[in-house]
Amino acid sequence: MRFSILTLNPGFFRGALDEGMIRIAREKGLLEVALVPIRDFTDDRYGTTDDYPYGGGAGMVMKAQPILRAYESVRRETPGKPPRTLVTSPQGRTLTQRWARELAEEPEIAVLCGRYKGIDERVIPLLGAEEISIGDYVLSGGEPAAIVILDALARLIPGVLGDAESAEADSFSEPLLDAPVYTRPEDIESRRVPDVLLSGDHERIRIWRRREALRRTWLKRPDLLLGRKLSDEDQSLLDEIKKEEGR
Ligand code: ADE
Repeated sequence: MRFSILTLNPGFFRGALDEGMIRIAREKGLLEVALVPIRDFTDDRYGTTDDYPYGGGAGMVMKAQPILRAYESVRRETPGKPPRTLVTSPQGRTLTQRWARELAEEPEIAVLCGRYKGIDERVIPLLGAEEISIGDYVLSGGEPAAIVILDALARLIPGVLGDAESAEADSFSEPLLDAPVYTRPEDIESRRVPDVLLSGDHERIRIWRRREALRRTWLKRPDLLLGRKLSDEDQSLLDEIKKEEGR
């Protein structure tokens, strides 16, 4: 996948691209990230990227032309089918694991990071872009959103995760929250690792993990279970949990 980030603040991404799953995906040659500094595409000697809003009001608006020229430079790099183009915005459709899985199949994505009060509205149709939000809160700029999107996609690109850590077993793939996990030592200030995990009995461990995943989901995110058809095993585990939790 080629992932182009159109940004006023390329320095924001320093470090983030060289860590964790994004680094692994890049090193494996499965992800190429291109930072496109919008300021390089301004046409005055001040590098003006924003201007006052028509009609007045507070805040500055990102100008269209530098963005359109930055986008043209992305198109020149990889002619052919246009990239799937996203604009970060709190008004966008919220990123979900399902949408991330769909986006991870794209060969080319361009993300425009919004800033200031907003972007000249005409940019969105001119780029054929979709607005994307990472949640119901307001960031001061789209850069943190772009890195969240990139991280969520990088680990879903086929071949990035090893078999053992396949994304299929993740929370939200199913969608259920994960069971709790523990590592050494067995005892920390009298809090012990559950015995079953030390038992070596794979079937008991499987059922315990399934029960605890259901318990967590039911306690922390009951919305994920609403309207969901459960297997007979899951249903009887959930019935047990509800009795145990006294709800
Ligand atoms: N820009 C400002 N807030 C945002 C959000 N929640 N998601 C994506 N982009 C944003």
